[in-house]
Amino acid sequence: MECTLVLVKPDGVQRGLIGEIISRLERRGLKLVGMKLMKVDDALARQHYGEHVDRPFFAGLVDFITSSPVVAMAWEAENAVEAVRSTMGQTNPTTSPPGTIRGDLALDIGRNLVHGSDSPESAQRELALFFTAAELVDYTRANDGWMKE
Ligand code: RTP
Ligand code: MG
Repeated sequence: MECTLVLVKPDGVQRGLIGEIISRLERRGLKLVGMKLMKVDDALARQHYGEHVDRPFFAGLVDFITSSPVVAMAWEAENAVEAVRSTMGQTNPTTSPPGTIRGDLALDIGRNLVHGSDSPESAQRELALFFTAAELVDYTRANDGWMKE
């Protein structure tokens, strides 16, 4: 089963949208297998956003993600990366369709509430940055048989 990293970013925590964001992923049917409220330090931020190190927005991105706590989560589904990304919407909230987290709840590309890994390979790399193997919980849900043909 595929697993992906989701962060409720500092703006989501500060705006009181942790529950809203979790609820959307839960209702869609993804399975929560890891979760913690934490501060991201400078080293973790630079590793997590390493692919963007040469971009003009990198310094601001690191400042932002370290500015206040985040909620880090691991979510599981058959196509977890794609399911989370489509639930989140596009990077820029103003071009993100209504019905998505960013399209319904955000307006600014630098305050887009949520992070989701962009490929299964990124997900594996990012999950290892935020969680130990022991922090990811293996369990079955009673309604799993009603979620899939
Ligand atoms: P994320 O990594 O946070 O899930 O977002 P994403 O895949 O949709 O976007 P990505 O290209 O990975 O960019 C990471 C974050 O950097 C900020 N950004 N700002 N000012 C800009 O042009 C710009 N481009 C990206 C966004 O906050 C984005 O979420
Ligand atoms: Mg990204």
